[in-house]
Amino acid sequence: MKKGLFISIEGPDGSGKSTQIQKLKKFLEEQGREAIVTREPGGTEISEKIRAIILDKNNVEMDYMTEALLYAASRAQHVAQVIKPALDEGKTIICDRFVDSSIAYQGYGRKLGDCVRIINEFAVAGCMPDITFFLKIDPSIGKMRIKEEVQDRLELEKLAFHNEVFRGYLELEENYKDRIIGIDANRSIKEISKDIIGHMKQLLNL
Ligand code: ADP
Ligand code: TYD
Repeated sequence: MKKGLFISIEGPDGSGKSTQIQKLKKFLEEQGREAIVTREPGGTEISEKIRAIILDKNNVEMDYMTEALLYAASRAQHVAQVIKPALDEGKTIICDRFVDSSIAYQGYGRKLGDCVRIINEFAVAGCMPDITFFLKIDPSIGKMRIKEEVQDRLELEKLAFHNEVFRGYLELEENYKDRIIGIDANRSIKEISKDIIGHMKQLLNL
């Protein structure tokens, strides 16, 4: 049984995940909770190496199934080495993207379908977030926030791909109402943060 709290943040590229994670971490620390911020793909030395392979703009020949399996492999290592041990010690994890990203990007965006969910069931071995904040923003607005020269292989995909990813997120939000909280991310940083912290206060009975 895990004792800690597992929070994930999801949404299109440029939706403001990293920005909101820093604010959420600060809030949790003010409440006396140690919050570990981590990200996917990445979070361990091995997972960061896998990340570099997946996001390399030169890897144009990568098969979609290879991509999905690499994300899942990176996640398996991340769960085993970082997330599960921290939760077992009662720590709070804030993870920038998790399984929902694979379902949205590989399942819907790449059209691999339900096999992505199944692969990831093996990868995480039951370790799923307690709460997920889905930053809802039109992918075209998110894209405008990211500088062209720093965009990775997935971010460089066409808008039709990102719209399909967004449709996937909306379906996930609908299917996992108990876990996924949709947050209107087309507002100021301050307003979004207030909204997220409001939900956290409710969850923590503060
Ligand atoms: P993500 O981690 O989802 O890719 P970031 O937090 O890195 O997004 O934000 C992407 C860019 O958009 C950054 O330059 C950031 O300062 C800016 N940004 C974040 N939130 C907002 C917001 N609510 N309104 C306008 N710009 C924002
Ligand atoms: P990330 O560094 O979080 O990008 P951003 O900060 O711009 O949101 O993620 C890198 C890219 O990898 C991003 O385009 C989303 C994609 N991705 C997947 O396609 N599947 C996954 O399982 C994960 C975790 C990320």
